[in-house]
Amino acid sequence: MTAVDVSASRDYQVLVGAGLLDQAGERVRAVTKAQTAVIVAGDRVAPLYGERAAASLSAAGFRVLRHTIPHGEGSKSLAGYGELLGFLAENRVNRGDVLIALGGGVTGDLTGFAASTYQRGMDFVQIPTTLLAAVDSSVGGKTAIDLPTGKNQVGSFYQPALVLCDPETLNTLPEEEFRCGCAEVIKYGVLGNAPFFNELAKTPIREQIEHVITTCVGMKRDIVGQDEFDRGLRQMLNLGHSVGHAVEACSGFTVLHGQAVAIGMAVVTRAAYEQGLCFRNTLEALLDILDKYGLPTETDFSLEELAAAMLADKKLSGGVLRLIVPREIGRCEIMPVPAGEIKAWLRAGGLR
Ligand SMILES: NC(=O)c1ccc[n+]([C@@H]2O[C@H](COP(=O)([O-])OP(=O)(O)OC[C@H]3O[C@@H](n4cnc5c(N)ncnc54)[C@H](O)[C@@H]3O)[C@@H](O)[C@H]2O)c1
Ligand SMILES: [Zn+2]
Repeated sequence: MTAVDVSASRDYQVLVGAGLLDQAGERVRAVTKAQTAVIVAGDRVAPLYGERAAASLSAAGFRVLRHTIPHGEGSKSLAGYGELLGFLAENRVNRGDVLIALGGGVTGDLTGFAASTYQRGMDFVQIPTTLLAAVDSSVGGKTAIDLPTGKNQVGSFYQPALVLCDPETLNTLPEEEFRCGCAEVIKYGVLGNAPFFNELAKTPIREQIEHVITTCVGMKRDIVGQDEFDRGLRQMLNLGHSVGHAVEACSGFTVLHGQAVAIGMAVVTRAAYEQGLCFRNTLEALLDILDKYGLPTETDFSLEELAAAMLADKKLSGGVLRLIVPREIGRCEIMPVPAGEIKAWLRAGGLR
């Protein structure tokens, strides 16, 4: 087992290791005096891992309650949030108790937001069961739900008390979801860790899963530690996401997030190469690794469609897009791109 210490508005540990799911009770007990532990899980994850988490928590002396939500982004909604709060209130859960998010980013974001607001804030623990949640969403304290007008429109910065990541739970993850997580893992290599990128190119992520998760969590910890509230450096984590979000939106969210991020990284790196901001070998290394992990590097959406979607993105503040641009593998820069120059970037990125 490996421990990563995170220091933010609240200090906590991210524990990564096989078998941690069955130790949930004692691990959670070590960080809280709560009497009741509420496990929130999706309807696909609950039958797989809910019972084991519940058994361990019961054995550690918690009164265990379980709230199951439909799988999918739709649960990260005002309705899903209201149902969870209603469940807590009806069961007389109080702010000294603890919520346990068992699942992917949807479960983690919803549960974290509920924890940050129910009775003005209670502890929560993340047990990520997707690769994306393990390397990204479970760490760093961004919680959110969606509004009909857009994703993550309501949320808070609220750190968990503990993150327990048992990589064995990833064995049941559908291949496509695993690949999406791989896109985020590759992102970490490109944005700040060339030796790690080379390891990913040489050895499949599955064969070095604990090392991969620990490395990504460590990098995210370092970034979040310097910019918890997303005012500067944390934007680096958006590599591939500006174009990626546009691809997701244009596809009506049929292109999965990780696939869209892969496309986004490829487009922005192609554009960087065309404009003399990186060498050809940087672009080639990126396209090679994305291909190796079965991730797409191209899109059929037109330049016009993508530009329109990017201009509508909430991250475009003051008419300027802060684009994350690779200069070489392991080194990226935040470049302010005025709205009027977005099309030129997309054209340089190979879009027509
Ligand atoms: N808070 C953050 O910092 C942050 C960062 C990135 C993404 N996010 C959010 O995360 C969400 C995406 O998260 P995700 O990619 O984990 O998707 P997800 O939570 O929807 O999970 C993907 C699918 O996998 C299933 N699943 C989960 N674990 C499984 C397992 N071990 N075995 C079998 N099936 C399993 C789920 O039921 C679901 O159908 C988005 O809402 C996004 O906005 C948040
Ligand atoms: Zn992402």
